[in-house]
Amino acid sequence: MDMEELFNPESIAIVGASAKPGKIGYSIMRNLVEYGYEGSIYPINIKGGEMTIKDRKFKVYKSVLDVPGKIDMAVVAVPAAHVPQVVDECGRKGVKVLPIISSGFGELGEEGKRIEQQLVEKARGYGMRVIGPNIFGVVYTPSKLNATFGPTDIIPGKLAFISQSGALGIALMGWTILEKIGLSALVSIGNKSDVDDADLLDYLEKDKNTEAILIYMEGIKDGRKFMQSAKRVSRKKPIVVIKAGRSERGARAVASHTGSLAGADRIYTAAFEQTGVLRAFSISEAFDWGRALSNLPEPQGDNVVIITNGGGVGVMATDACEEEGLKLYDNLEELKVFANYMPPFGSYKNPVDLTGMATAAEYEGALKTALAHPEMHAVVVLCCQTAILDAKDLADVLINAYTESGRKKPLVVAMVGGTEFREAINVLNENGIPTYPEPERAIGSIAALYRWHNWKTKEQVWRRP
Ligand code: ACO
Repeated sequence: MDMEELFNPESIAIVGASAKPGKIGYSIMRNLVEYGYEGSIYPINIKGGEMTIKDRKFKVYKSVLDVPGKIDMAVVAVPAAHVPQVVDECGRKGVKVLPIISSGFGELGEEGKRIEQQLVEKARGYGMRVIGPNIFGVVYTPSKLNATFGPTDIIPGKLAFISQSGALGIALMGWTILEKIGLSALVSIGNKSDVDDADLLDYLEKDKNTEAILIYMEGIKDGRKFMQSAKRVSRKKPIVVIKAGRSERGARAVASHTGSLAGADRIYTAAFEQTGVLRAFSISEAFDWGRALSNLPEPQGDNVVIITNGGGVGVMATDACEEEGLKLYDNLEELKVFANYMPPFGSYKNPVDLTGMATAAEYEGALKTALAHPEMHAVVVLCCQTAILDAKDLADVLINAYTESGRKKPLVVAMVGGTEFREAINVLNENGIPTYPEPERAIGSIAALYRWHNWKTKEQVWRRP
């Protein structure tokens, strides 16, 4: 069944909507209003009456059955004991999709799982899909939908994020804002009683607003279904997974968190390898990769060029390239062209060292050259903060040169320095150029792009060293 109403609902009911700041039912209403959702919003609360959220007045309905229009999505934020009745009423109303925020189901044990299953069967009987329970909601930036109780101002982008964990997912919402990571979608799937990772992959495969998919996963219930979807989708769009519960003790922690079976870790590793899924080991690694994969075009060849103003970071980046299996372009005759942008004591061997004398103008010349050269397929720009290199000027020239080139080649940047450089990193990321504070993170991210490209084009499997 299609997930369209989860991402593009024309109307939403919030069951358990509240006018009291601090309550989950209030936060969801506030986020819907503040993030600019343009469809109909129907607050549902047994008390009825009216409520004002951010200067917008709403009539409050005592039940979804009292709402005059159709309801595509109903977000449920009432205590677990009330949920069965709400599910029944939503089904009778013809609601299509039901994100259930409420906790107190499968994560509690066998009895909770049984009740959860009954809810799903009831929902299915009405042709309704259930998200959760035990979730924080859903975001889809193209339709200005933020039906969560997390932060409001999610940055629009091309990365879709699916989270099995609630608290971590909410925390990462705030983190993506701080780190200037743009998202297309964010779906909290919690106990995965009905809709699971595979269902969402199937939808996101065709979603024109999503270029890459990142999943925080604790366990998979239907391994075969996931593998089928992942293998197909990863040929079109890269999938990055953080699979928690790698250790034996971690797996036990998973069981009491979302009630999932974490399973033997090597089985997951094998499944990811066979399906072209890129497995990340930490949050920063996963989002580093996601940032590059959702913003950059695929490389048209293997030759990577590093442009730097510091020998040290150039060497570190070269080590990282070796470890990641990236090929540094080494045709010295062609590389000579970079001598135009460096003093006599510079080095045009790859890494191309413009030296500490480099200003934004030298970077501009070197970058334009690399982007235009037919044998240079991917570019890594490294910058160490110096007194003569203005961070703002540098960001401007990099953005302009890359945009003028048509953004046809992968470009990643690492800027090592203080406050001004931190600001420039943000500006570059806001402009869709993946930029990192360390050279290894930039190399790791462009390596992830190559890894996915090699899987897609040659079915080349990547194994973590
Ligand atoms: N129909 C309509 N409205 C109802 C109904 C009903 N059947 N039952 C209650 N309400 C109203 C109440 O009147 C109340 O309105 P008010 O705020 O005006 O008083 C509102 O709905 C909420 O009901 P409360 O009983 O006050 O419940 P509360 O808001 O305290 O908690 C909640 C509800 C948030 C769903 C809670 O039970 C819960 O499950 N919390 C956990 C959520 C969570 O953590 N999710 C997991 C992912 S996020 C993470 O892990 C951090």
